[in-house]
Amino acid sequence: MSYPLHRPRRLRQSPAVRRLVAQTRLHPAQLILPVFVKEEASEPTPIGSMPGVVQHSLDSLEQAAREAVAAGVGGIMVFGVPTSKDAVGSGATDTDGILNVALRRLADTVGDELVVMGDLCLDEFTDHGHCGVLDARGGVDNDATLERYAEMALAQAEAGATVLGLSGMMDGQVGHVRRALDQAGHLDTIVLAYAAKYASGFYGPFREAVSSSLQGDRATYQQDPANFTESLRELRLDLDEGADIVMVKPALPYLDVLAAVAAEATVPVSAYQVSGEYAQIEAAAAHGWIDRDRVALEALTSIHRAGAEQILTYYAAAAARWLS
Ligand code: PBG
Repeated sequence: MSYPLHRPRRLRQSPAVRRLVAQTRLHPAQLILPVFVKEEASEPTPIGSMPGVVQHSLDSLEQAAREAVAAGVGGIMVFGVPTSKDAVGSGATDTDGILNVALRRLADTVGDELVVMGDLCLDEFTDHGHCGVLDARGGVDNDATLERYAEMALAQAEAGATVLGLSGMMDGQVGHVRRALDQAGHLDTIVLAYAAKYASGFYGPFREAVSSSLQGDRATYQQDPANFTESLRELRLDLDEGADIVMVKPALPYLDVLAAVAAEATVPVSAYQVSGEYAQIEAAAAHGWIDRDRVALEALTSIHRAGAEQILTYYAAAAARWLS
């Protein structure tokens, strides 16, 4: 009988030993809760493809934010669902538009305990569902969209948002928004840039969440899932333009990209576990095929292990409770 010289199992022998040598530890403060708030809603509306997630009323939004604070969650990212949409997404820059009203409400009520973030993109507000304004031929007009983003940034900063999440994937958006903020004196407003954002089928349930009926697809501005190096190019551009935090999205199917971005970034790196990632877990768990809490935590741990320091997840409040 010859004995193995090396026995890695020694370090797995008991919960106490495993806890001692665990290399990745998620903390509730690293989690960011994405939320939807619907204009003129008096009650929350369930989202069918995202069990447990709702389109909030302003009151239920404040309640959810207070629960996130109690659970120790680090931040909240707000998406607006306006009653009326138009070609330029007017609701996004209206001071009384739902997103800006919600940001003001959260900044006033939980702003000291939770980092309040606004999604800075036009798709929730445009009738065609694209992330920008269209040119005469129906394509998304990059530079005209930047002007809209600048106006949107000022509206969100004035509403009291601490972080602006630039999710539109227009070229030059970080630099353009940064200049607009600085010129208006919003020197401390943090820009979270979606550096690598892929044109993903995993955003499917989100479309229901924001009641969007997208005409066409986003392939001319979001990245091709087949590509890797352009994520590093996007990262460098966003850093050059002044991004304070960078993000990779979706998360689990893009861990290679996340790891590469984390290796190179000189700012905090976040990742977004998107609606389809959430829906997959919920659907399989509803069939009894997987253990929901275990799989959700495993996915979040993997995203953290790959290099994300902050994670946007619809599980934020639940996961924060499982962790403590
Ligand atoms: C764009 C935006 C989207 C998501 C977040 N921001 C939709 C898209 O790019 O098509 C998707 C998030 C999710 O699926 O959870 N404003």
